[in-house]
Order: sequence, then C-alpha cells, then structure tokens
Amino acid sequence: MRPLLHIGDVMFSKKKTAERALPRHIAIIMDGNGRWAKKRKMPRSAGHIAGAKTFKDIARYCNKIGLEYLTVYAFSTENWKRPKEEVEGIMNLLRDYLRDAENFKDENIRVRFIGNLEPLADDIKALIEKNEKGSENATGLNLNIAINYGGRDEITNAVKTIVESGMDAKDITEDTISQNLYTKGMPDPDFIIRPSGEYRLSNYLIWQSAYAEYWFSDVLWPDFTSRHLEKAIEEYNNRNRRFGGV
Ligand code: FPP
Repeated sequence: MRPLLHIGDVMFSKKKTAERALPRHIAIIMDGNGRWAKKRKMPRSAGHIAGAKTFKDIARYCNKIGLEYLTVYAFSTENWKRPKEEVEGIMNLLRDYLRDAENFKDENIRVRFIGNLEPLADDIKALIEKNEKGSENATGLNLNIAINYGGRDEITNAVKTIVESGMDAKDITEDTISQNLYTKGMPDPDFIIRPSGEYRLSNYLIWQSAYAEYWFSDVLWPDFTSRHLEKAIEEYNNRNRRFGGV
C-alpha cells in the first residue's frame, strides 16, 4: 500500500477527516447504464450518455486525489453483439470524448487505450493515437480506457506473441505473460469496483486481478459519485491483503 494520504472534506463516512491509503490501481466495470435509462423510460443510449459523464467526473476525481492508475471498461469484445445503433452510440460517445480530451491534457492525465483497437473505425484510431501521444508526458493519473477489450483475447494474443518470438518454453515465466499484455509495465489492479448489483468479472483483467480486492454495489453507474468511490476506498482500507501468505 502507498503512504497514508490526508483527505479532508471528501470522506463519505461520518469521519470528516480521515487518513487512508489509496490503492495504486483501481479498475472499474461501468455497468448499469441500460437499467438506469430504462428506469427513466429513456432509450439505452441516454444511459450511456449519462455513464460517459460519470466516467469523466470519476476520472477527474481520481486525478485530484492522486490515484496512480484508473482502468475503466468501456466496451468489451462481447459488446459487438448489441444492437447496431447501441454500438454506434457508444462509439460516438468515444469520439466525443476523444475530441474533447484536450481538457484532460490540461489536467495532466495520461490516457491510454487497452484492447484490440484494430476493428475500430479509422477516425477513432487516429484520434486515439493523437490522444495517447498528446498526453504521453502527463505525470498525473494514468487513465486506461478498455475498448474492444477481453481478458481471454488479451491472454491469447500474449501467447501468440510469445510463441512467434521463438522463446524456449522453459524460459517462460508469469512475468513473460504480464509483459505481453496490454497493461505491460503497469501495476496490477489492487481494487476492482463493479456497480449495478452484478457479481461477475465479465472477462475483465482476468490475469491482472489475481490478487485484487473487489467491491460491489447496487448503485447504477450513471448514479455513481465520488462519495461511492470514497466509501469503497474506505472499505479497501479495512481489507487484509495476504497475497496467499498468512
Ligand atoms: C454497461 O452497461 C456499459 C457499457 C457496455 C458501456 C459503457 C460505456 C460508457 C460508460 C461510455 C463510455 C464512454 C467513454 C467516453 C469511454 P449496460 O449497458 O450493460 O447496462 P445494463 O446492464 O443496465 O443494461
């Protein structure tokens, strides 16, 4: 764990002032947009628009409190199965975000995309490249956005790369796998947050989360706020991580 941080007015609990350790890396499954919209008799796309706003707010908040890494699940390898217009809606939100990302640059956030980006539209790929390059010297939050991401797909690709490199089987270690994932060089997530009342990992960071702590909540992603995040971090502080030891 990192050194204790003093965070005053942002705590969710009664303790107005509290000391707590931040995980180095938080990963979030941004789930519940569809149900949020349905509850309001709105189209699913409205849920994704609200979810994209929550995503920006939470990323900014994580940067403000000094989190090192935030990885969000924006689109999975399975999400292509959704209706065409829903997929297009999410891709358009991604375009909007990428065009608007100049704001993030001012905030010193480094943005990277993880996943198989190849099938994405050419203009999105170009914007991604521009954003990654434009923020590569930022020293604040490392923000990873998972697009067309699947954990099994990621591990399969890592194995292919290793085999193609001609590496001797006896030389392959766990580190060899880690160094061939999209998250190469990054710390594994310490803490995985999934709102919306689902208790699954859904193919998210399945290698990297081997020793992660989990936090689930019934709140739907568009309703998720920094207060929920603080509550989750407070709970993380009460966990006893043993990494298989005693
Ligand atoms: C899961 O909720 C959410 C998604 C598959 C899309 C998440 C996308 C965003 C929050 C927008 C991302 C935008 C940017 C800019 C990165 P769901 O649709 O499965 O909800 P449901 O389970 O209630 O149907």
